Amino acid sequence: MSFATIAWQEDGVVMLDQTRLPAAEVYLTCRDYDDVARAIKTMVIRGAPAIGVAAAMGVALGMQNRLQAGQPLDEAGFAQVCRTLAATRPTAVNLFWALEKMRRKWEAARAAGAAGEEIVRRLVELALAIQREDVETNERLGAHGAGVVPAAASILTHCNAGALACAGYGTALGVVRAAHAAGKVKMVFADETRPLLQGARLTAWELQRDNIPVTVITDNMAAYIMGRGEIDLVVVGADRVAANGDTANKIGTYGVALLARAHGVPFYVAAPLSTVDFSLATGAEIPIEERAPAEVTGLAGQPTVPAGVPVRNPAFDVTPA
Ligand code: MRU
Repeated sequence: MSFATIAWQEDGVVMLDQTRLPAAEVYLTCRDYDDVARAIKTMVIRGAPAIGVAAAMGVALGMQNRLQAGQPLDEAGFAQVCRTLAATRPTAVNLFWALEKMRRKWEAARAAGAAGEEIVRRLVELALAIQREDVETNERLGAHGAGVVPAAASILTHCNAGALACAGYGTALGVVRAAHAAGKVKMVFADETRPLLQGARLTAWELQRDNIPVTVITDNMAAYIMGRGEIDLVVVGADRVAANGDTANKIGTYGVALLARAHGVPFYVAAPLSTVDFSLATGAEIPIEERAPAEVTGLAGQPTVPAGVPVRNPAFDVTPA
């Protein structure tokens, strides 16, 4: 893989701007925590694990900047940074998981009497560990998941649960990568994934980069292709899995799951433990982000809905366990 989704640098957090793909490969440097928050909100960086890594780095950057500006490293400052990052996107639990880990590190460092620079060093170290461990987890997930992929498989996926959605390698696309390395993948079908086209723009981009065969279909073609027996299994990622296994993922995932059940096609969710929210009994409690109507009412600068007609834009749905 010849790109980095996110990287820590002394002077900021660098992200591959996913809003610009596939037209342009542009890297954006976030100089402070509020830049990181904006990048998450506007989906410069997206995908549950990647959002978690970005939030952790955002906290470290925010506290590093406070130190360098001579501001006190106090609880009020830390809470402000965390609050801003927490208010970006509500559904992917990895964001809150990462913020919680950073908080525990912050509290432990202060309880141990660590001073300014030492506290920042520990926060940076943890953010980098979260990034590193995400890739390691995905590699293990991929190796495990490849076991369920039959020979010469045609695999359907929805949205982007790839290296772009994580610190690297991917969850659902981690399974695809490992299966491909084992010589088992004939074709990956990528649902376009309206309205923001993560499948067409991002999944197709990163699989093509890795020379993994990929075909894009619009979301409404999945039933036809599956009905013809052209799909052997479905693998998707997750934004939040409730304690009973109900799974929130990109809008449209539930429909794909129903199609898979109707056609007797195995449907798998590939996700790390950081995506499981044991505090929620069922998926009914998962907060679902509603995004701006403008994402639905226009395409490539052209209106696709008459002005004044209301639209809905839930970004995720919940597939019952
Ligand atoms: O709105 P997005 O692009 O952040 O949604 C991403 C997804 O739904 C992914 O499938 C999910 O986060 C898993 S990423 C490994």
